[in-house]
Amino acid sequence: MTPEGPKFVIQGLGGKRLLSGKLAVNGSKNDALQALSAVPLFAGIYKLKNVPEIEDINKLTEILVSLGIKLVSRKSHELIFDSSKLSNSSIDPEISKRLRGSVILTGPLIARTGSAYFPHPGGCVIGERPIDFFLDGFKTLGTKVTLEDKMYKIEAPKGGLKGAEIFFRYQSVTATETFMMAATLARGVTILKNCAIEPEIENLGNFLNKSGAKIEGLGTTTLKIRGGKLLHAPNVDYKILPDRIEAGSLIVLGALAAKKLEITNCEPKHLESLITWLRLSGVKITIKSNSVIVIENRSDPVFAPLKIRTHEYPGFPTDLQAIISVFLTQATGESKIFETIFEDRLHHLHILKEMGGNITVHDAHRATIIGPTPLQGRHVYSPDLRAGLAYVIAATIASGESVVHNVHYIDRGYERLEERLRQIGLNIKKE
Ligand code: EPU
Repeated sequence: MTPEGPKFVIQGLGGKRLLSGKLAVNGSKNDALQALSAVPLFAGIYKLKNVPEIEDINKLTEILVSLGIKLVSRKSHELIFDSSKLSNSSIDPEISKRLRGSVILTGPLIARTGSAYFPHPGGCVIGERPIDFFLDGFKTLGTKVTLEDKMYKIEAPKGGLKGAEIFFRYQSVTATETFMMAATLARGVTILKNCAIEPEIENLGNFLNKSGAKIEGLGTTTLKIRGGKLLHAPNVDYKILPDRIEAGSLIVLGALAAKKLEITNCEPKHLESLITWLRLSGVKITIKSNSVIVIENRSDPVFAPLKIRTHEYPGFPTDLQAIISVFLTQATGESKIFETIFEDRLHHLHILKEMGGNITVHDAHRATIIGPTPLQGRHVYSPDLRAGLAYVIAATIASGESVVHNVHYIDRGYERLEERLRQIGLNIKKE
């Protein structure tokens, strides 16, 4: 892989527990992506709070502005949009190809304007990312879908989208968000079945309901949506949830490299799966209302191996699979990883193996990790944001210096990571 842009230079702790302090979790990338995507559902002023200051949000903001939506103000972690006018419904192909989350925007856009024009969205390198649920779902709501010059064109009939029943073949986070929003403006009733139930979806649904939408069944796999007219300027702000994936990653960092680390500004009930597994392994975790504390007084703790199978929420998140893999290189005995959500999300295991992990990758979904093995620092290349952070954690516990290249992937999802890690004692520089 060729290095691009900035890199992190990290002096590893060589297995010592030298980190300590408090780290606050930022707003959730994926909640913010859907919250920004909801802007076209409204005609008026729309305020978002606790927005992470990350590249993905900058890109989506650019797309909104290119659609004619006004960015009224951008303050610290707060964005205000004016969506009174929309001048077009064509999603910038260059930005969209680099941002999978932009696909969510198609729902509100088609619902409000009757059409959308967009390329196959891009994103991380974690295997095939099909959009068949989106294309099939839009057809079910009455649209015509065509593909011209690698751009999809979706056109609703006169009178707009028509409510219908959609069954998702897999629980899909972005498809659930997209159709929940599209149905909000469709004529009649839409029933969505086998929906994803990630907390971000419920947060969006509650916000839409407070702004005049009629969505029933939030938090369950069946949603019933009575469509209606364009929503008006919401009288509540959209408060982005704390990022449960960032929080979970920091908990694992604490478990491996800290004497005491308090992760604040998080929602522990969104982290039940990770915390249950880590406690089973022997990690000492204290839960408070909005924070999680990881304490380890032993210099050489023994952690039990785990059998991790990724699963839709509330199961073990695929977005923490690379992170828990680093942890398992330090557990005593044979651990298993079974990635069930994505086709090609085990690449990081080859790198962890080169750093010293005793890892066998059986196929694109399953691997065995035998620990504990010390890790050695080296040059690594982030392929995506989650694996990138896993390399940062591996470099932290390794001995010697590591260089994590392609930090722009990490910057897509984590705000000022290096500054925050320095605060808890890590020797990390961005160059
Ligand atoms: N799927 C299809 N067809 C579709 C859509 C999805 O077959 O049209 C399949 C996928 O291939 C996958 C399964 O459905 O096997 C579930 O994928 P899902 O659609 O839920 O993934 P997503 O909505 O594209 C979101 C997050 C991902 C996160 C997954 C799973 C956003 C913007 N992205 O993706 O986040 O991994 O849910 O929880 O919300 C990340 O943040 O690093 C990230 C990749």
